[in-house]
Amino acid sequence: MTASDLFDISGKTALVTGGSRGIGLMIAEGFVDAGVTVYISSRKADVCEQVAAELSKKGTCVAIPADLSSETECRRLAGEMASRVDQLDILVNNAGATWGAPLADFDEAAFERVLALNVKGVFHLTKFLVPLLEKAGTQEEPARVINIGSIDGIGVPALETYSYSASKAAVHHMTRHLAKRLAPTITVNAIAPGPFESKMMAATLDAFRDQIEAGAPLKRIGRPDDMAGAAIFLSSRAGAYLTGAVIPVDGGISTTR
Ligand SMILES: NC(=O)c1ccc[n+]([C@@H]2O[C@H](COP(=O)([O-])OP(=O)(O)OC[C@H]3O[C@@H](n4cnc5c(N)ncnc54)[C@H](OP(=O)(O)O)[C@@H]3O)[C@@H](O)[C@H]2O)c1
Repeated sequence: MTASDLFDISGKTALVTGGSRGIGLMIAEGFVDAGVTVYISSRKADVCEQVAAELSKKGTCVAIPADLSSETECRRLAGEMASRVDQLDILVNNAGATWGAPLADFDEAAFERVLALNVKGVFHLTKFLVPLLEKAGTQEEPARVINIGSIDGIGVPALETYSYSASKAAVHHMTRHLAKRLAPTITVNAIAPGPFESKMMAATLDAFRDQIEAGAPLKRIGRPDDMAGAAIFLSSRAGAYLTGAVIPVDGGISTTR
């Protein structure tokens, strides 16, 4: 096997949730460039369709809008996928939300809106897609689930985002639990990103970009190819022997803290 064969994912089919912008778009675009047929899903149908049309200029990308904070919508999306494809090689559970408020004001709604998408959505969508992933995966070449966690689920963040940090620690542990359950034909790994340009990170980067970059051992925030590269590695033959791993892609912020 040549080095390029090791990382060749062309011809595979992937679903990237939250693929319409930010980190999900970085991964979806990297997959399209690598010859993967990519389905993206997010709530705003017009944006989702527009991004899919843009990415389809250089490959194949299809939009299936859904609100993944409800089990019903996760089931519907899995059904839509089953009506379009015979098997699913790669599922990227990326869609996520955050919330910040002082401790005394952090109410039930601030927990529910974050946990519903970041934890329950990841679980329910994976559960409903297992049959399609099992059709794609073998012991030699497993199907892949990639959950997007966060370094805020590894170390304590500076901001008062209690439900977010708890949700990401939950995603990391659920990754290990599902990895054990779904082996040997499906691998389940997590990427724990550090700071990347996105709508979610816009206010934080506007206020603290210089401090964040100065404090990171690699002295910069993440680039789209850093994120696409990690997802392509996990989806390729090169990543076939990892499962239950949580991989920080963070310029060394969490690994050297
Ligand atoms: N950016 C960072 O520095 C960073 C660092 C660590 C971890 N992360 C994680 O990376 C993931 C992506 O974050 P991001 O920074 O790229 O955020 P973002 O720019 O806010 O993008 C979030 C994506 O998820 C979709 N989404 C939001 N709510 C949804 C719902 N209920 N159902 C379906 N889709 C929904 C959004 O589209 P709609 O609004 O149209 O639904 C959008 O496509 C998240 O899990 C986040 O926690 C990000």
